[in-house]
Amino acid sequence: MIALQNLVKQYGDFTAVDGVTLDVQPGEIHGFLGPNGAGKTTTLRMIAGLLEPTSGRILVNGHDLATHPVEAKTSLGFIPDRPYIYEKLTAGEFLRFHGGLYGIEGDAVTERVHEMLDLFDLRRWEDELVESFSHGMKQRLVMSAAFLHRPRAVVVDEPMVGLDPRGARLIKDVFRKMSERGVAILMSTHTLEVAQELSDRITIINKSRIVAQGTVDEVLRLSGGEDDQLTSVFLRLTGGSGLQEIDELL
Ligand SMILES: Nc1ncnc2c1ncn2[C@@H]1O[C@H](COP(=O)(O)OP(=O)(O)OP(=O)(O)O)[C@@H](O)[C@H]1O
Ligand SMILES: [Mg+2]
Repeated sequence: MIALQNLVKQYGDFTAVDGVTLDVQPGEIHGFLGPNGAGKTTTLRMIAGLLEPTSGRILVNGHDLATHPVEAKTSLGFIPDRPYIYEKLTAGEFLRFHGGLYGIEGDAVTERVHEMLDLFDLRRWEDELVESFSHGMKQRLVMSAAFLHRPRAVVVDEPMVGLDPRGARLIKDVFRKMSERGVAILMSTHTLEVAQELSDRITIINKSRIVAQGTVDEVLRLSGGEDDQLTSVFLRLTGGSGLQEIDELL
């Protein structure tokens, strides 16, 4: 549903994404993990069509993003890490505008907007300006927009940042339900417990390259079966725990 083939992004001499290949099947939640600066956001922005790859291919729902951008983008919902929403719109106006971009109009859009506002617990704020929303409310509004046009694939960058426990639970439940309905989800996160709990498969990148890929169990086995927590495997694959260094520097 989402297929990346040897994806590369260079900024001058610096290679931010170096030969990333992965595929996310319908109904799969795929965790995309890696330290700060590893290249996660760069990869996800390329899939959303916001950045042009230096080389490699991106297919969404079978459509090549380079040659069939409209078909590819119509199949995709994108939830960025730092969502920008025009502050002078109400939640309802923002969602109707978003629906219009995807050709959903009239009664259909009103009905769908209400479904999304109910799902993301925002119905009370339908007519409130976005500028009055808290961080978590904005996050949920952006998610409402991403799911509004019933995408077959969703790319989400750091969904859990700043969400309260109820918000985090809601998002997890929504992702699970969507995947049960066949939606493919590629999710970057630093919350490894969430990745471990939700993901069917994961990819770990470090310094722009893939260092591990597989089911959570397969990746855990890379540690020789000693660990049942992703955190230790992650730290080992991405350059150690840093504890020694901290000791020396203190
Ligand atoms: N426009 C740009 N020009 C030059 N370098 C860039 C540009 N955008 C990103 N980079 C570099 O690419 C690398 C990867 O950045 P990216 O934002 O993809 O990391 P990330 O894995 O999302 O990290 P984080 O976990 O902190 O969100 C970083 O070293 C960053 O400085
Ligand atoms: Mg990022």
